[in-house]
Amino acid sequence: MMGLSFQDKNILAPMVRVGTLPMRLLALDYGADIVYSEELVDIKMLQCKRVVNDILHTVDYVSPTGRVIFQTCERERHHVVFQMGTADAERALTVATLIQNDVAGIDINMGCPKEYSTKILSTLVKGVSKPITCKIRILPSLTETISLVKLIEKTGVAAIAVHGRSKDERPQHPVHCDVIKAISQAVSIPVIANGGSQELIRQFQDIHAFRSATSTSSVMLARAAMWNPSVFRQEGLLPVETVIRDYIVYAVRYDNHYTNTKYCLCQMLRDQLESPLGKRLHAAQSTLEICEIFELSDFYESCRAAQKAKKADLQSVGLA
Ligand code: FNR
Repeated sequence: MMGLSFQDKNILAPMVRVGTLPMRLLALDYGADIVYSEELVDIKMLQCKRVVNDILHTVDYVSPTGRVIFQTCERERHHVVFQMGTADAERALTVATLIQNDVAGIDINMGCPKEYSTKILSTLVKGVSKPITCKIRILPSLTETISLVKLIEKTGVAAIAVHGRSKDERPQHPVHCDVIKAISQAVSIPVIANGGSQELIRQFQDIHAFRSATSTSSVMLARAAMWNPSVFRQEGLLPVETVIRDYIVYAVRYDNHYTNTKYCLCQMLRDQLESPLGKRLHAAQSTLEICEIFELSDFYESCRAAQKAKKADLQSVGLA
């Protein structure tokens, strides 16, 4: 298998709480090429134990309190980039070494780049066999931004994702396509354009337009995908009700925590949150209750029965 390429790719952006396994798998099904995990902090990851889950067919990184902090599976192994939050090169390397065989790449969130950030990148590039990327915001001036990306390029990273806003700009502010374009022209590694969701990207065709406007290799979507991940479908958007049901199927199959499922579904329902359906979702206190709202209780029951049977099988041969 060749290493992950960042040329001509449509990418699910890292999103805290949103970018868990069900959303990543759904984005891949709809046509995303690469999916980033939510940002996970190195210190938290260091406390986790890697557990192979033979019932769900996943690899789970489990915290001392039993919470699954990062969950992945074979389907996404060659597509998932693990985004890490870190301020320490050695700690980042320890985490990267721990997880590198379960993921396709590792990204460092450099939202607010500090001096130590490039050291982290070079340490990872040297010490890890998977591609390393980083995600930045632009700096107040173009000159500063260009010197930063040149420094980053020297570390040997495989690509840079650029959110075309500075740290003081809100998501509602227009994205600076011209700055992303200047960055793309200043470096020779692939640049991934990000920040176009609200004003520029509503459907699949808009992704291509954003890539052209920024002269980049690839495009990364956060909010447009959070609202409706079928934005990655070449054939066009699916109704949000269909997407919600597809999401729930993965959430049940991978035993996603119901609070996380609920959070993601609320983002998709958006303007319908005050509707009777939205209110029922808001009140749901379990995955089964969520399934009932969307008429998926039969699926829930059969999936849980199959998982129970599998567990019993594994227990009978002493594997669970
Ligand atoms: C984000 N963003 C983000 N960025 C990042 O590097 N790591 C993260 O974990 C998160 N988390 C996150 C959560 C949620 C709910 C949102 C909406 C955004 C920022 C995101 O990746 C992206 O840079 C911006 O949202 C701009 O891209 P869009 O939304 O215009 O496509």
